[in-house]
Amino acid sequence: MRFPLISVLLLYTGAALAQSSPYNYQVTKYMTPRRYAVVSAHPLASEAGAQVMKAGGNAVDAAIATQLALAVVYPEAGNLGGGGFMVARLRNGQSLAIDYREMAPQKAHRDMYLDGNGNAQTRLSLDGHLAAGVPGTVAGLFASHQYAKLPFAKLVAPAIKLAEKGFVITEREAAGLNRRKEDFIRLNTMPTAFVKDTPWKAGDTLVQKDLARTLRLIAQKGAAGFYEGETAEKVVAEMRRGGGIISAADLKGYRAKPRQPLQFKFRGYDILTMPLPSSGGVGIQQMLGMVESYPLEEWGFHSVQSVQVMIEAERRAYADRAKFLGDPDFTSPPLAAITQPSYLKTRMQTFTPGRATPSEAVQAGLVKESMQTTHLSVLDADGNAVSVTTTLNGGYGSKVVVGGAGFLLNNEMDDFSVKPGTPNMYGLIGAEANAIAPRKRMLSSMTPTIVLQHNRPVLIAGTPGGSTIITSVFQTILNALVFNLDAQTTVNAPKFHHQWLPDEVRIEQDFPDSTRAALEKMGYKFVKSGPWSRTEVIKIHPDGKIEAVGDKRGDDSAAGE
Ligand code: DON
Repeated sequence: MRFPLISVLLLYTGAALAQSSPYNYQVTKYMTPRRYAVVSAHPLASEAGAQVMKAGGNAVDAAIATQLALAVVYPEAGNLGGGGFMVARLRNGQSLAIDYREMAPQKAHRDMYLDGNGNAQTRLSLDGHLAAGVPGTVAGLFASHQYAKLPFAKLVAPAIKLAEKGFVITEREAAGLNRRKEDFIRLNTMPTAFVKDTPWKAGDTLVQKDLARTLRLIAQKGAAGFYEGETAEKVVAEMRRGGGIISAADLKGYRAKPRQPLQFKFRGYDILTMPLPSSGGVGIQQMLGMVESYPLEEWGFHSVQSVQVMIEAERRAYADRAKFLGDPDFTSPPLAAITQPSYLKTRMQTFTPGRATPSEAVQAGLVKESMQTTHLSVLDADGNAVSVTTTLNGGYGSKVVVGGAGFLLNNEMDDFSVKPGTPNMYGLIGAEANAIAPRKRMLSSMTPTIVLQHNRPVLIAGTPGGSTIITSVFQTILNALVFNLDAQTTVNAPKFHHQWLPDEVRIEQDFPDSTRAALEKMGYKFVKSGPWSRTEVIKIHPDGKIEAVGDKRGDDSAAGE
């Protein structure tokens, strides 16, 4: 299914231009490629990944090229100045998890966002220089590159071209840039490519010369082209001008970390996902474990019973997230205890069919001893599967562009618990486990996931959406594998979300009224919101058929062959 994106442009350029031209391109929402596929938030980024596979690269090459292209064509969330997680399952059976989450700068401290009266000043963790954690993305790309086949310079080439020569922006991007114009002006110390005198409109060309230069430095010098030398100096100068605290030593000292991927069984499938410092993997392990024994497929998709039990599982998992989870290098969350089947069973003992459990009656379990991000899913012709979620946190992150270097810095510091019990931008609360400390990674919800059956990938999935990421991936897995929805419905069906506090169920506008009404009678409070969570899915059928789906909620697009 193809939708012309910039029809107005066709008037200027004519239909003769190649489909993947940065000045005339299309969104592909659904395809069934025979060999390889990429799904990401932007058609030009998906195309960059697909081209790399066409040129002999594998899924890791494609994931790197797609992320670099997203840093150019999707400045809202694609990034050099943010962080992310990669989960991969290689054809040889090796499973990978690479953590390139941002870190608190050395000068960060627990109470850095509290005023003299101890009140949280949450704007400071959201906007401007102090909101930024030490970026991890470039280190993550190089850590991933050891599993790739092509030289890095080849993978960064499409991004350099897109930044240097520009690309045409979509209506959605034009609206995003216009919405943030005042913030960009207020929060930046030098002029940025994102601000122009007249409003942006679909069909305008965005050129990012400074970003092209930074990308070229990375191509020439590797990670040192970002964390040392000219680019690092520009970051430090930006911090000095804007009152930030990221130092040259913070940048030079940043390392991506290989992690042991989280793997667990669910109804005969193996789920491979991100461990801490993401709460996402633990979250879906808990939720899937809590609902596993209920006859969901018999009850049916979006039936009152299924939705109720799923909401109650979500509520309980988020209560645990708030209390227990944080950077595993700094805290020792009782992971084994809170993921044990017996614990999860006990957790659901307070579940009453037909009645909502109030969140105040659900505290974290007792054991002895938790808006803008983007996801990409890739499958190559050899069966290597890669699932990456990467983020600046909020849309355009801190809104600070590093002067002369052309990339946006994240506002990931807000993912820490700036004060115990004070909600962050997603309404999530946290405790000691996620308090700020120098060089600590803030807790994430990002959940890049690969589902295996008989050791082969059957589903590659993930999504942005802040706190809703975990419930969206949870529901995507159930939609595809338990409710047996087709791939497009799996992605586009309305979602519902409960995160313990606030004690309410968020639903997308098209969530079925009859189910909502029945659940309201049981005591659930509903809030219509959304749309949220642009989920990118590749589904691989037992007969080898590949389906690639870009979420209907954005410019998300599939590419492949
Ligand atoms: O790591 C996290 O959980 C958040 N910083 C993700 C932010 C996000 O998904 C925003 N997207 N809409």
